[in-house]
Amino acid sequence: MRTSVRLTVNDEPCTAEVDPRTLLADFLRDELGLTGTHVGCATGNCGACTVVLDGLTVKSCTVLAGDVSGSHVTTIEGVSGPDGLHPIQEAFVARHALQCGFCTPGMVLSVRRLLEENPNPSEADIRHGIAGNLCRCTGYASIVAAVQDVAATLTTRPASGT
Ligand code: FES
Ligand code: FES
Repeated sequence: MRTSVRLTVNDEPCTAEVDPRTLLADFLRDELGLTGTHVGCATGNCGACTVVLDGLTVKSCTVLAGDVSGSHVTTIEGVSGPDGLHPIQEAFVARHALQCGFCTPGMVLSVRRLLEENPNPSEADIRHGIAGNLCRCTGYASIVAAVQDVAATLTTRPASGT
């Protein structure tokens, strides 16, 4: 048995017939080749598979692709623009806020959502905002510093700069 999945991913429409048990994370990786969505645990714990689904961050290993047919999805591949890296990605690079990088796509998407909701977060807000994203390299101090750097630029830039 197959089910039809129709999504808009990073502003591109896509359709595929898949096994109804296909997870959104596997759909993105295996059907669309968007391997920036990482799968670390497949149990909803690590956050490596975080994507934006209709404006909200979700752990895509906890979602069946068929259940969200018709939705809009943003993956890490849709975050940077034609001019290069997103400011959050640039801040991560500048602050060395990654080591192996496995958690980074999900972390960046969670930070982007956090800053959309709260452009001036406290350190506690930042730590709460990334609480669902585990970094096994334990680079949290650098990650928090990177987010603080981006937030500082938001006080002098239009919100659309995120
Ligand atoms: Fe989805 Fe870990 S792979 S939360
Ligand atoms: Fe390695 Fe976060 S940089 S898991």
